[in-house]
Amino acid sequence: MSEKQEIILSGIRPTGRLHYGNYFGAVHHFIHLQEAGHRCYYFIADYHALTTITERVDFYRQTIDMLRTYVACGLDPVKSVIYRQSDLPCTAELALLLGMVTNIGHLERGTTYKDKLSKLTSKPGSEGNPLSYGLLGYPVLMAADILIVRADKVPVGDDQRQHVEMTMDIAQKFNHRFGETLKIPRATSRKALRLPGLDGGAKMGKSEHNTLDLLDDEKTVLKKIKAVQTSTDPLPLDTDSDLPEAVIPQMPPSVGMLYRLLNLLAPEDVYLDFLGKYRRKEKFYGMLKTTLAQHVSAFNAPIIERFNDPENSPEYVEDFLRENAKKVTPVGLATVEACREAIGIGHSLYRA
Ligand code: TRP
Repeated sequence: MSEKQEIILSGIRPTGRLHYGNYFGAVHHFIHLQEAGHRCYYFIADYHALTTITERVDFYRQTIDMLRTYVACGLDPVKSVIYRQSDLPCTAELALLLGMVTNIGHLERGTTYKDKLSKLTSKPGSEGNPLSYGLLGYPVLMAADILIVRADKVPVGDDQRQHVEMTMDIAQKFNHRFGETLKIPRATSRKALRLPGLDGGAKMGKSEHNTLDLLDDEKTVLKKIKAVQTSTDPLPLDTDSDLPEAVIPQMPPSVGMLYRLLNLLAPEDVYLDFLGKYRRKEKFYGMLKTTLAQHVSAFNAPIIERFNDPENSPEYVEDFLRENAKKVTPVGLATVEACREAIGIGHSLYRA
């Protein structure tokens, strides 16, 4: 146990397969916090996922498969409390209460909301505001997720920082109106690495179709990496530093992506060796790709094995979700009850 145990919370959208961008951007950091002995709550944000759908999606299946991958990567449902948002339905009750202290203008200024709105309204033929109440209220629900477990820290990527700041605001407003009830959390940067996509695009993402996946087998890995665009000659590097932060921005984007992965996965001397080749403009891209593919496959192999372990079955995931929902429920209910008391409607009369 670490000297100072903190309460950590983060939410994960149920997107299905896990790719390298998710891993190095978030999962890796989640595991690190778990191993440092903090009290970690990680939940699958299935209510949040509903804000953008227009038809039935099998989130249940997606959640189970995703969690099998998370477990295969090292997230441990005994050390961390891993649960589904919808298994803690009092989150929705807290969101309702928090909604009473949330200013609509504040929500309308949310960048995620504004982005979605401008994308939709810029389409010809769309009139008015077609977005849902649920989507506008996304940050309120997120505030409820965070405040309900009394989180100290919320590790998120940069795109989510504003939401955490809104949470701090909402909590402060609540405390100001109704007395100190909620703990004010802080956003912590995930020391996040935003991995570029295999196409050299700024971000690896499922909707960009440019992902390297943790469950990709050897053949798939090699095929994907071989297909990476490397026809541009090395550009001169205007630095003596070997650090990826210094050299990668000076490379063609897709080549930079290969070096980024090599730096993450291969021993340092392998990375430095290929960096030397780049500096000397040797012909080496073919070799770089096969070497990298070997390291990626070696990284994936134990994850694939643990994913397919008969112990790591859908039933196993369901069992730990049930157990962890039991663990988080008293914590959540205590917060909701405290808020009800603070506001003045008093305790629920049928909950013990
Ligand atoms: N909005 C986050 C995302 O899109 C997911 C999320 C939901 C979350 N609730 C949260 C993250 C609470 C941190 C804390 O990635």
